[in-house]
Amino acid sequence: MLKVAIIGTGYVGLPTGVGLAELGNQVVCVDKIEDKINKLNQGKLTLYEDGLEELFKKNVKSGMLKFTTDTKSAVEDADIVMLAVGTPPHPITKEADLKYIYAAAEELAKYLTGYTVVATKSTVPVGTGDEVEAIIHKTNPKADFDVVSLPEFLREGFAIHDFFNPDRIVIGYESEKAKEVLLKLYQPFVGKCQFLCVKRRSSETIKYASNAFLAMKIHYINEMADFCEAAGADVREVAKGMGLDSRIGAKFLNPGPGYGGSCFPKDTNAMAQMGKKYGTPLHLIETTIAENDNRKARIGQRVIATIKDHPQGKIAVLGLAFKGGTDDCRESPAIDIIKEMIKYSRNIMVYDPKALENAKSILNNTVHYAETITEACSGADVAVILTEWEDFKKLDLDHLKSIMKSPKIVDMRNMLNGEDVIKHGFQYQCVGRKL
Ligand code: UGA
Repeated sequence: MLKVAIIGTGYVGLPTGVGLAELGNQVVCVDKIEDKINKLNQGKLTLYEDGLEELFKKNVKSGMLKFTTDTKSAVEDADIVMLAVGTPPHPITKEADLKYIYAAAEELAKYLTGYTVVATKSTVPVGTGDEVEAIIHKTNPKADFDVVSLPEFLREGFAIHDFFNPDRIVIGYESEKAKEVLLKLYQPFVGKCQFLCVKRRSSETIKYASNAFLAMKIHYINEMADFCEAAGADVREVAKGMGLDSRIGAKFLNPGPGYGGSCFPKDTNAMAQMGKKYGTPLHLIETTIAENDNRKARIGQRVIATIKDHPQGKIAVLGLAFKGGTDDCRESPAIDIIKEMIKYSRNIMVYDPKALENAKSILNNTVHYAETITEACSGADVAVILTEWEDFKKLDLDHLKSIMKSPKIVDMRNMLNGEDVIKHGFQYQCVGRKL
């Protein structure tokens, strides 16, 4: 059993804390936001993740998982202190803003006692480990510590699944002693996944290089989808054919409205900035960023084009979250597509089974909000699917046709059986094939 303090209780910190407690470690999660810690101490989760609640309650009950706003009490006894605070994009430079990381490093430094490993879980630019090390050393010259990079590869919505079933565990280290402590922490995964112990700067790069590659993969299939539509091919068949080559792999070849979320847009931008900083421009990533943005604007216009004969017509939007299974709207393609449509129409009604509240704080009164699919689609001239919620797969087409003013569907997640939709009398557009 190790004693672990985790600074930051967001989408990375909280599931990691719960997972590590479940593996038998004594975990204390720290956050500055008192309200969050109060809720967690009352047994209430502050974010939704499949499977999280059960493990959270179990480990709180057994005393293996604790929450506090007091960094000192969490850090002074810890064998490992993990930094899992946000690294949001700087509004102007688009570089990762490290102010929370540096502030946390400075604060925790004061309370280190005995040998402690400080592990950076947040996604941080290359060289941040060196900076964190320097800050801790400056704040507390007597501290006995090492800084490691411990990148996180969890997906939102699957955080608990991914925690217990990682493809790999990457440890970026500069000291054998620190590496040994982390190998002990991750001992339960020996034989279950690959371990990669590398230079700290390599580890920091692996995280960005992986996210940027996945973003490029999605962008690639999105471009192929446009090509297939024009050339009379079917992108689903093309993706399947490509994915059967094990060198390419079948995952992340689903075309859609563009990638979004709190990671890919932020990390591709940060990586592109790092490329510039080191004098090695990353052209593929730069193009991906620009074209992913253009795609969302083009989709907005594509929807608008479907109501060109009656421009005041109602647009029903189904799906606001950046992907299915989450209430998160940060950098959601759906939001950007809506923002484009707002330039042409004020008659937009939106629906999402989980993300309505989060969307409201971004879109305010520029659109109307619906509590049900039926409410969104009643009297609509077109319905557009932007997030892959299972509910949308099961749309009752007869009912939908009876309530819509004109039966038109734009399915930007390829959720529906197009042939069936057309049989029901709809005009139908999807991604990567023309029907
Ligand atoms: C992503 C990575 O997948 C994780 O490995 C990583 O740890 C995480 O970022 C992070 O850096 O924290 P996440 O942002 O939760 O995870 O979401 P993904 O499931 O990767 O989806 C990202 C976006 O790509 C979504 O908008 C999704 O709809 C889109 N996408 C994904 C596609 O359009 N097509 C696909 O085939 C896959």
